[in-house]
Amino acid sequence: MRDIFTLVLCLQLIKSLQGQILPKDIPKCRFGDSDCIVDSMNKVIRRYPRGIPALGMKPIDVVDIRNSKFWDNPKVGAFWLQFNLFDQVYYGFENTTITKVKGFTKNPTSSLMEIHGRIPSLIHKGRYMSQGRVWIVELNSTGEQLSDFQNFRFVLKLKVIMEYRNNKRYLKIYELNPIVNMDRWVFWLDNFFSENTDLTIAINQVFNIHWVEFWNELEPTNLRIFASVFRDLIEDILYKVSYDDMFLPDEKETREND
Ligand SMILES: *[C@@H]1O[C@H](CO)[C@@H](O)[C@H](O)[C@H]1NC(C)=O
Ligand SMILES: *[C@@H]1O[C@H](CO)[C@@H](O)[C@H](O)[C@H]1NC(C)=O
Repeated sequence: MRDIFTLVLCLQLIKSLQGQILPKDIPKCRFGDSDCIVDSMNKVIRRYPRGIPALGMKPIDVVDIRNSKFWDNPKVGAFWLQFNLFDQVYYGFENTTITKVKGFTKNPTSSLMEIHGRIPSLIHKGRYMSQGRVWIVELNSTGEQLSDFQNFRFVLKLKVIMEYRNNKRYLKIYELNPIVNMDRWVFWLDNFFSENTDLTIAINQVFNIHWVEFWNELEPTNLRIFASVFRDLIEDILYKVSYDDMFLPDEKETREND
């Protein structure tokens, strides 16, 4: 009797040490119950804007990202531009609303997973460094850069593989492709022509009037950046929390084990 008692106690202890458990105030869902999953994801986002480190969830109210090269033309001809961003931070992910998910089934590797969402205003701040030549004007400037992606909508398409650790199933992303849309991209570069404020204002106005064309040209770069930002936000959670622990136990399986 005592042995059984000890054994049960040990098993319970091991169970509670294995893998991370989602907070109690976040309801777990059944596999494939998309409405419930959307609801739970939104609760996590609303309640934990500063993240949950133990679960690999990073703060989402301030998101640091890597430096990036936007334009990198060779320095020849009458028009070339090199444009680098650094010290970049995103604000506004905490106001994300997840609108739809797909593929969160018992065996998510068998199909594409999707997460759809919306952010009222995604702010991207950083410093830029630019060198270039626009016809007769030489550019060499550095300053603050601000982007505001208004009514930003995204669809993340995920391909995952399954990893087994401690007899548990964990997901690992092997491909993440974002599709994004917005109502407007507001963009501002301070000090672009350091000697000439009027020209700086003028070029910013041109940019903001023609933001769609700029977006189209920069979309591949922007998508690469967004992919790495989203991947960074999700990857550690999937590493720390086993996929099965995110869901209610499968009914059929429980019955078979009983
Ligand atoms: C997020 O939403 C709150 C509340 O509506 C708002 O005060 C805040 O400015 C928003 N954050 C961003 C970066 O837009
Ligand atoms: C650009 O400006 C920086 C600092 O103002 C200066 O050190 C650098 O030599 C300049 N580069 C060119 C190519 O003019």
